[in-house]
Amino acid sequence: MKVAISGKGGVGKTTLCALLAREAASQGKRVFAVDADPNPTLALMLGFPEEITPLVELQELMEERLGSLEGFLRLNPKVDDIPERFAVERDGIKLLVMGPIRQGGGGCACPQNTFLKSLLQHLMLERDELILLDFEAGLEPLGRATAQGVDALLIVVEPDGASIVTARRISTLAQQIGIRRIFAVANKIREPGELRAIQENLGIAVIGALPYSERLRITGPTADAEMRHHVQAILESIEHPHPQPLSP
Ligand SMILES: Nc1ncnc2c1ncn2[C@@H]1O[C@H](COP(=O)(O)OP(=O)(O)OP(=O)(O)O)[C@@H](O)[C@H]1O
Ligand SMILES: [Mg+2]
Repeated sequence: MKVAISGKGGVGKTTLCALLAREAASQGKRVFAVDADPNPTLALMLGFPEEITPLVELQELMEERLGSLEGFLRLNPKVDDIPERFAVERDGIKLLVMGPIRQGGGGCACPQNTFLKSLLQHLMLERDELILLDFEAGLEPLGRATAQGVDALLIVVEPDGASIVTARRISTLAQQIGIRRIFAVANKIREPGELRAIQENLGIAVIGALPYSERLRITGPTADAEMRHHVQAILESIEHPHPQPLSP
């Protein structure tokens, strides 16, 4: 399974990614987490003690794989050794921190993007773990080629209008690049009415919800029994989807 996680800033993407990774690992699944956020925080949330340098900031590696950054660019950089060489592992979870994908524009060819896209494509096609990708709201990093390899996109929403509007935009974009299974996860739910409002207004199938938890906010994504129960349900719905009617 390859699962990408997106949503408006601060809704809880990285928290959900870490919770899913921990739950899956505790069930004995092999988990490969990818931090594709320009401002990477997944390592911290997964409890990795050291600061991890994102791949695109490894200047020597980039030059080795891409050719001189000013000169000719290799369009198919070698990436198949990257996961084993650069992923760090803790508690049964492997983690790769990619670093910022720069948006085109300003005439920037952004060679690092070529590298990251090749790497994402490699991960999608060649790895057989549960892959969890922590993205920012824009789906540009996925690109069309990579999108085809993603089994499901989870869009995190919280009970506020802005995160719902953002979720709809992400969903439209995701459909345009060919992602078929798009689900929402409601986060920071304080009362059942908030979940109902999301289900009624979003227009994306909501496959799970996490309650607001002061404990989680303060101590990070370690789950108590109740939280685990919700996370298990989400994992279960991703892996064994049953058709759900879309909310109007
Ligand atoms: N269910 C929850 N209950 C309480 N606090 C939560 C919950 N989920 C996430 N948070 C808190 O919300 C904040 C944002 O969470 P997180 O960093 O996971 O969001 P994000 O979407 O990854 O943010 P960013 O866009 O900056 O990457 C954090 O302080 C986190 O502890
Ligand atoms: Mg995040």
